[in-house]
Amino acid sequence: MSQRTLLVLSSVVLATIAPTSAKILSCADVGCPITAGTTATCTVVDHSFSAVGVAAIDSSVKGLSWVKAVGGERQGANDFLDQGIYLGRPDGFDFGSTGACALLFTQVSDMVRFGDLDPKGTEGVCSDAMTNACISALTDRAKKVDLKGLSGTAACAKLQSDFSNNPVDSACAAFAQASKWAGIEARALSGTGSPTPISTTQNTTSTCWPILPKTDDLTLVDSSNSTVSYL
Ligand SMILES: *[C@@H]1O[C@H](CO)[C@@H](O)[C@H](O)[C@H]1NC(C)=O
Ligand SMILES: *[C@@H]1O[C@H](CO)[C@@H](O)[C@H](O)[C@H]1NC(C)=O
Repeated sequence: MSQRTLLVLSSVVLATIAPTSAKILSCADVGCPITAGTTATCTVVDHSFSAVGVAAIDSSVKGLSWVKAVGGERQGANDFLDQGIYLGRPDGFDFGSTGACALLFTQVSDMVRFGDLDPKGTEGVCSDAMTNACISALTDRAKKVDLKGLSGTAACAKLQSDFSNNPVDSACAAFAQASKWAGIEARALSGTGSPTPISTTQNTTSTCWPILPKTDDLTLVDSSNSTVSYL
């Protein structure tokens, strides 16, 4: 079985391995309803977002995209930051025998950023934030992990442990917080234990579909709801 690894950095706006094109879109750009007096809101099943980034995934498996969506809610002194990462796939897509994992880098150094601008307004892709040398090192490392006989979550867990237990590749040293990666989370995108695309039945509460083309399906790969508090 060929195991293809797709990586995404979850702590930055949106990143994939060497994407061909990446763009941060507002909800309005992907066709969300805008109610009078509010900014765009995009509800996907039970998550509400106000900003969405879409990037094509450049790999031998064609037509895949990452969608990273962010929304916020204020409750008293706290802001909750709701984030979702979705895989977009063409209608009728089938991974066949190709294994795929997303590796989420949830703890990276402040060096991972797109230029010096306000992070809210910047856009970019993985190679802008982490250099091509680091992305190549991550890809090479993933290719060397022996995944024979493994699939789905088992294969992805092995990839995760290889990345977590070995020293950070020198090309990536500036982007990790320590000599080993911490906070890497693997998610299977195909095979046993992988999430399924949002079905029509689950979709009844959605008000928008933040992917282009609109005929693509969306699979929730990871989500988080964290507190941002102000003193
Ligand atoms: C889900 O709902 C949105 C909003 O109504 C719609 O645009 C989209 O096509 C739907 N997708 C599916 C798979 O049902
Ligand atoms: C995030 O968590 C808080 C506290 O549990 C909750 O009140 C809020 O509704 C959650 N937001 C979303 C979008 O799930």
